[in-house]
Amino acid sequence: MNAIRIHRYGGPEVLQYENAPRPQVQKGEVLIHVHAAGVNPLDWEVRSGSLNGFIQHKLPLIPGWEVSGVVVEVGFGVSQFKEGDEVFGMSDPMRDGAYADYIAVREGALAIKPKSLHHVRAAAMPLSALAAWRSLFDLGHLQSGQRILIHGGSGGVGHFAVQLAKWKGAYVMATASTKNQELLCKLGADEVIDYTTQKFEDVAQNIDIVLDTIGGETQKRSWLVLNKGGALISLIQPPSEEKAKRFGVRGMMCSVQPIGAQLSKIAKLIDSAKLKPTIDRILPLSEARRAHELSQNGHIRGKIVLRVKDIQL
Ligand SMILES: NC(=O)c1ccc[n+]([C@@H]2O[C@H](COP(=O)([O-])OP(=O)(O)OC[C@H]3O[C@@H](n4cnc5c(N)ncnc54)[C@H](OP(=O)(O)O)[C@@H]3O)[C@@H](O)[C@H]2O)c1
Repeated sequence: MNAIRIHRYGGPEVLQYENAPRPQVQKGEVLIHVHAAGVNPLDWEVRSGSLNGFIQHKLPLIPGWEVSGVVVEVGFGVSQFKEGDEVFGMSDPMRDGAYADYIAVREGALAIKPKSLHHVRAAAMPLSALAAWRSLFDLGHLQSGQRILIHGGSGGVGHFAVQLAKWKGAYVMATASTKNQELLCKLGADEVIDYTTQKFEDVAQNIDIVLDTIGGETQKRSWLVLNKGGALISLIQPPSEEKAKRFGVRGMMCSVQPIGAQLSKIAKLIDSAKLKPTIDRILPLSEARRAHELSQNGHIRGKIVLRVKDIQL
């Protein structure tokens, strides 16, 4: 099969478009004919080797852990899916990913693809939307009427978080640069903050939950805006326990989980027009290097998707 693989860690140039063996399905897994693969910062963080202490990989490795495609084979014990099902999901980041014609995925990490999205748009969702879901609902227990500040509201995770928080009935404040203010409004944010011209802490106060997709200074300054009993949830850097105690709030690090049942709920929200992906651009699989260069710049609007199969959009 065609695949993008890395044989060593390094810059985008280590991504090689080449032939690779088709994966074998194991017990409880399905083989997916990949139609499209979403691109996430995780992909280039793994590629660069910066996560080597945290995730162990065997090289060569196929990156990309967000997939949409069609089931072509089911392994022993699979009960939820059959051949021909159109599915989307987040695959195991410890194993070969979706920058390839085929991928084997545990059935519990998948859901039936939303009917209203073609594969390219569906592939933009699983990892990012699950990360937003876990942060807001599993960790933050976000309730209707609460005030949430979402940093990086125009990014892969942030743009789903804004929509999910609105759907829940929260009062949503979100940050992005000047060019993305309109997008934040379209996503449903109640108040938008341009981090290039305003200090968010001058605008956002009495916040119940901060979602931090940026880290560094942004995280440090976020403690100041929280109500007592509130929560700072980060996707990028564990919040200081000492500061959480001092401010009387909870500090939590989110680690996204590939939960098919949550993806099914997300698919329902998509089909009822409550949630939709924003696609920055679609590139062919052979242009994975370009996709990584763009993602690494840190200013993607929504998601980049790699088109793996030649599909009619
Ligand atoms: N722990 C987990 O389980 C998990 C899961 C998913 C993602 N993550 C991590 O979470 C982080 C975000 O992921 P992502 O996919 O959302 O990244 P992304 O799509 O690359 O985020 C890009 C967005 O960040 C915005 N941005 C950049 N600097 C900003 C600043 N100072 N303030 C506010 N917004 C700013 C950009 O808006 P402008 O262009 O307008 O600047 C852009 O829209 C990554 O580090 C990723 O690895 C972790």
